[in-house]
Amino acid sequence: MVNPSLKAVRGAFVDFVDDPFSTSQLNSELQSVRYLQDGLLIIEDGKIIEFDTYSNLSDRYAQIPTEVHEGLILPGFIDLHVHYPQTEMIGAYGEQLLAWLDKYVFPTESKFRDVDYARQIASFFLDELLRNGTTSAVVLTTIFPASVDVLFEEAQRRNMRLIAGQVLMSRNAPEYLLNEPQKAYAENRELIQKWHGQDRLLYAITPRFAITSTDAELKLAAKLKEEYPDLYIHTHLSENLKEIEFTAALFPTSKDYLNVYEQFDLVGDRSIFAHCVHLDESAFERMSNSGAAIAYCPTSNLFLGSGLFKLHQAKSPEYQIKVGIGSDVGAGTSFSQLKSMGEAYKISQLQGQSLSAFKAFYLATLGGAKALSLDDKIGSFDRGKEADFVVLDVNATPLQALRNRATKGDFSLEAIASQLFGLMTLGDERSIKATYVAGKLAL
Ligand code: GUN
Ligand code: ZN
Repeated sequence: MVNPSLKAVRGAFVDFVDDPFSTSQLNSELQSVRYLQDGLLIIEDGKIIEFDTYSNLSDRYAQIPTEVHEGLILPGFIDLHVHYPQTEMIGAYGEQLLAWLDKYVFPTESKFRDVDYARQIASFFLDELLRNGTTSAVVLTTIFPASVDVLFEEAQRRNMRLIAGQVLMSRNAPEYLLNEPQKAYAENRELIQKWHGQDRLLYAITPRFAITSTDAELKLAAKLKEEYPDLYIHTHLSENLKEIEFTAALFPTSKDYLNVYEQFDLVGDRSIFAHCVHLDESAFERMSNSGAAIAYCPTSNLFLGSGLFKLHQAKSPEYQIKVGIGSDVGAGTSFSQLKSMGEAYKISQLQGQSLSAFKAFYLATLGGAKALSLDDKIGSFDRGKEADFVVLDVNATPLQALRNRATKGDFSLEAIASQLFGLMTLGDERSIKATYVAGKLAL
């Protein structure tokens, strides 16, 4: 009798068994890649129970329903930093961070006091992630608790892995976007009890950034973390030079920007810091020692003119900081992590480095999972993990098909690397043939 909750997916699979940044030259990065040209993934109740070559598994699973896919099957992408309330104001002209926040972001975020509007945008936002192959995301909301509720409700309906929390802001923003810290603390506690650990949802304590928090608010953030140690801390760090200058003036006893968060005990292995463009060696070293993660936001750092993140230094043997990729919409200009990878490549080029396709795809999959300490649940096709995956068409446009003629019928790892690199250079949501969340076709 065939177990009715079992199903199989057959095709060409690519995932990672190791960090390609940490393999030495002798021990080529190719050893971190697992490529099964004809593989079979066996899924039961949304989880992976077997993963191997078709020939090794087909006898045992001959009777179960099998979906066969053309293209490359990869783990679902992880977006390590994105703002759902900014979906509508993506591509706002002409400003850098602080002026951009004042002119475009804060007025847009005020609209989220209307729960119907918030739900409409939350729903659009999550579908847009899925359309782009992103199955897990770390998301900023607004100060309004209902804006958090609707996001979690919509994510739960889609069974996505989502980490989010109410945004803490109590100064240096318009009155309509400020919350009283003690009130926010109470609201956070309610939201945590309601959502943290429900299905695939997890909670992040989310001070917007040092500039919009008072000492009292950062103390309460730390108190929440002490009360619920498995929560995440999610915030921005060292994105823009004027932001850094203003932060230094607001926190004169802190020796640098990271030290503001250190002084309030907010830096640890469940802390996610977006940007980190201007960190110096001391900050990199402290990040490394703390186990905190960086959300690298390439399209955003370029769009706002924030600067060039030193990826190769962060990932060097000296620091080995956990790094994943964030779209950072709406400062980021695309929901597509393929586009984020393409811009990351160009940023590396400007620093005299080349970001290989395997390294880039690692950052958007297993690297992101490790950054979240969720690599036992997502990020690769290991047995026991949740079956989130994406089917990629490397030839979605005539230009891509022309480009890939050179590697047609070549199933070597070098050919796969070339096709993946083509995706990060030319790909977008047209490259996403299908997105699966916990074993089910999402859209
Ligand atoms: N720093 C504080 N808030 C924000 C935001 O909304 N976007 C970006 N990119 N940086 C920030
Ligand atoms: Zn951001």
